[in-house]
Amino acid sequence: MHATSAWFEDEITAAVAPQLPGFAVEVVTEIDSTSTELMRRARQGNVAPVLLVALRQTAGRGRMGRPWQSAQQAAQPASLTFSLGLPLAPRDWSGLSLAVGVSVAESLDPGGAAGLQLKWPNDLWREDRKLGGILIETALPQSEAAQRYLVIGIGLNLGPREAEGLNTPPAWIGEWRLEASAGELLRDLVPPLVDTVQAFAERGFAPFAERFALRDTLRGREVQLSDGTAGLCDGVGWGGELRVQTAAGLQVINSSEVSVRPRQRVGA
Ligand code: BTN
Repeated sequence: MHATSAWFEDEITAAVAPQLPGFAVEVVTEIDSTSTELMRRARQGNVAPVLLVALRQTAGRGRMGRPWQSAQQAAQPASLTFSLGLPLAPRDWSGLSLAVGVSVAESLDPGGAAGLQLKWPNDLWREDRKLGGILIETALPQSEAAQRYLVIGIGLNLGPREAEGLNTPPAWIGEWRLEASAGELLRDLVPPLVDTVQAFAERGFAPFAERFALRDTLRGREVQLSDGTAGLCDGVGWGGELRVQTAAGLQVINSSEVSVRPRQRVGA
């Protein structure tokens, strides 16, 4: 009988490998960034499907070139940081980060009782505080020119972290899942995430749109775009685009360069 690893590598591999032949789980103590590492490998032609988990990242990255700092709790890392890499050829990439968010939120908070929400385009929020983020990147490996290699990086706060430098104090998973270890959370998250990515490749974002809407933290709120335009958020369309009613009419936002800041909920 095998000793059970704290990271459940064998269970995760057994659940995923039938869909992704050659899939492996790697856990490292420290790395610059799990996403940087998988992008490096892909550019060198290593396009095997893999889950790379790091206890610590020394140069974690967020969207738009921002650093992503892992939470620290005494000597313990208090974040779950991992990247999933696999070759993928969807017809349309729009809305992938939203579909990934739906999968992660449903795995962590299956019935919605914990109030885990999604903030377009790639954040997990709880009670108006950021709990985690998703970074989607693709590489075009020289050896596999027809198919991109997708790297999905996910960082989740397991425990409390300092609010210094952040717009809002962060939320963390331990607020409602007191007993769950990082490995147990990973075991819950990864097989449905692989299912989600494969379903997305087949059918795009549309089948996820209603599930996103159930957890959409911006819908029905006054929001402000990074160019200063204000408006009422009308939720997310079938292609994953954000819809905002502004004084100049409906604005449909696809660009990941736009940041959206909630101001206040209408009627609240
Ligand atoms: C964001 O909030 O802007 C996205 C944060 C993504 C962080 C994760 S942690 C694992 C993976 N490695 C990285 O360097 N970034 C992603």
